[in-house]
Amino acid sequence: MLGGFSPAAERVWEGLPPLGDTLGDLAARDRQLFRLRLTRQFQNLYDGLEPLYGHHPDFEAFLGRVVGKLAESYRDRPEALKTLDLERELSPDWFQHESMIGYVAYAERFAGTLAGVADRLEYLAELGVTYLHLMSVLRAREGESDGGYAVADYLAVEPELGTTRDLEDLCATLRGSGVSLCLDLVLNHCADTHAWAEAARAGDAHYQAYFYSYPDRAVPERFEATLPEVFPDLAPGSFTYVPAMKRWVWTTFNSYQWDLNYTNPEVFLEVLTILLGLANRGVEVFRLDAVAFMWKRLGTNSQNQPEVHMLLQALRACSRVAAPAVVHKAEAIVSPGDLVRYFGTGKHFGKVSNLVYHNSLMVQFWAALATRDTRLMTQVLKGFPPTPPATAWATYIRCHDDVGWAVTDEDADAVGLGGAAHRSFLSDYYAGLFAGSHAVGEVFGYNPDTNDRRISGTLASLAGLEQALAQDDLYGVELSIERILLGYALMLGFGGIPLLYMGDELGLLNDYSFAEHPDTRDDNRWLHRPYMDWERAEKRSQGGTLEARLFSGVKQLIAVRRNTPQLHAGYQTEVLDVHPHLLVYVRPHPLGTLLAVYNFSEQTQVLALSALGAYAFTEASDRLSGETLSARDGLLELPPYARLWLV
Ligand code: GLC
Ligand code: GLC
Repeated sequence: MLGGFSPAAERVWEGLPPLGDTLGDLAARDRQLFRLRLTRQFQNLYDGLEPLYGHHPDFEAFLGRVVGKLAESYRDRPEALKTLDLERELSPDWFQHESMIGYVAYAERFAGTLAGVADRLEYLAELGVTYLHLMSVLRAREGESDGGYAVADYLAVEPELGTTRDLEDLCATLRGSGVSLCLDLVLNHCADTHAWAEAARAGDAHYQAYFYSYPDRAVPERFEATLPEVFPDLAPGSFTYVPAMKRWVWTTFNSYQWDLNYTNPEVFLEVLTILLGLANRGVEVFRLDAVAFMWKRLGTNSQNQPEVHMLLQALRACSRVAAPAVVHKAEAIVSPGDLVRYFGTGKHFGKVSNLVYHNSLMVQFWAALATRDTRLMTQVLKGFPPTPPATAWATYIRCHDDVGWAVTDEDADAVGLGGAAHRSFLSDYYAGLFAGSHAVGEVFGYNPDTNDRRISGTLASLAGLEQALAQDDLYGVELSIERILLGYALMLGFGGIPLLYMGDELGLLNDYSFAEHPDTRDDNRWLHRPYMDWERAEKRSQGGTLEARLFSGVKQLIAVRRNTPQLHAGYQTEVLDVHPHLLVYVRPHPLGTLLAVYNFSEQTQVLALSALGAYAFTEASDRLSGETLSARDGLLELPPYARLWLV
């Protein structure tokens, strides 16, 4: 057998129902391709699902239904997307390429409608965007919807944005311009107004089994003894009493977001159907939302359970069969040790997701900016193992969510800091409660029991621009611009797909208007979810304006990145521990090693090249300034917030 299946998988394989009826009308070559892909992935699929559902008496029939779904979806896949599948299989590193530039926006706040997004292609092209993550596109719950993360219908588009036809058109337009559309697949939970939840509430046992619900508080309390609260102030606890059902429903996030029960194989099939349905409309990247929470286990924090990686491996295998152009991005905002497991480690090596948010890089950027000290950052980043082949980090500095201080006590300890005290300092700093702080942000998710606090605010406001402008502090404005560009240089130069968050390229400040609207006023993450300011965007071409300086600074970094093969995500970043105020790493490459150096302080710093050991040089060219640097007296001088990409 071509697949080299395990005996158990082989048995199931032999028993699969024939697919002739489904695939019958396809050309022979198409049928053959499907077979080859299925054979290639079947063991991965089996290994993902068997430990989860193998004990069900009808497990084999279930796998048969999964495979049937793949065949059906493949049959219905539009020709243009089948061509894309082939293109992507021929260049499986397409998403690792140094030319990849991601942009992230709320569709409505960026362009009003989906058709409006297509009208803004020129703006995106100016930045070289090749990957567009649009948020809040699928039909959300009415009223409060957690910014669209409470989905009421996964296969319908939010009416004010347009129709599913508009979504297909947008995908085609973007594809034609070399831009991949990324949408969220909120698979940990759905809205309490989703048809599944409505049916469950009405007493339908089939749909009640899509959720976790309990007749009284006994089991919920046992779970809650070890569950951290995600929204301690907005939505305390992890269970919500639903009077119509007379039951307590598991709601990790807001009370209107019902967690889906993946111990039920029907839920897996539903989510698979949604994923493949959207893929056939032309969605190329799925941001798998809040995946850490997908499996629950009593006595644990019910995050990052091994079953999550199995589920994700199975889903991944499915899209590789039915829609190979598609890639999966895991959103798991967890500690470093747990984070890498979303690429797949051990027996799941490289099979779980293609892309993983580098939450640690983001957190460490903000931590180092506050302290002007890179020791913790270096300690944490050094600890990351290499990424598996054919995977990449999604690097970012800001996104639509808060900044949570995922710094472990062990890492803090290793550099002589107290974990709790340091996390607390960082919150104070970014909430502007620490004397001398340049930041204007707000505390999000305060938990009085643990004293945990996270932070809301835009890149510009957290980096000092809001305060400096308010105080007419010209030097402060300069420093803020440098901090912002330092952030861009880091996320563009680390290796992986950089995700630029809408408006940061223009320095948009905190938007306080969320407090006036009942659907947003309780959630200050809206502070950093402003509407695109197209008038300010116009100023990007008016030399000397703040907008022009930021925008052209970002554009220049992007232009250099695109011509720096060392930044292909297939090569690894190796962090060097050489200086307390500098982040220094190398990316060895056949065309010459890239040495990146970033100064996290507003003081000039000096690096002794001898500290670089094997990577010491006497002359190097800085890709960012275009200048050749020679090491005078073996020392390299770095101005405030300097960034160098040396080859
Ligand atoms: C994700 C989203 C966040 C949302 C949460 C629940 O983490 O990024 O905005 O609140 O999931 O869906
Ligand atoms: C928590 C969750 C993350 C979510 C965020 C929203 O950090 O782990 O998934 O994005 O909360 O605030």
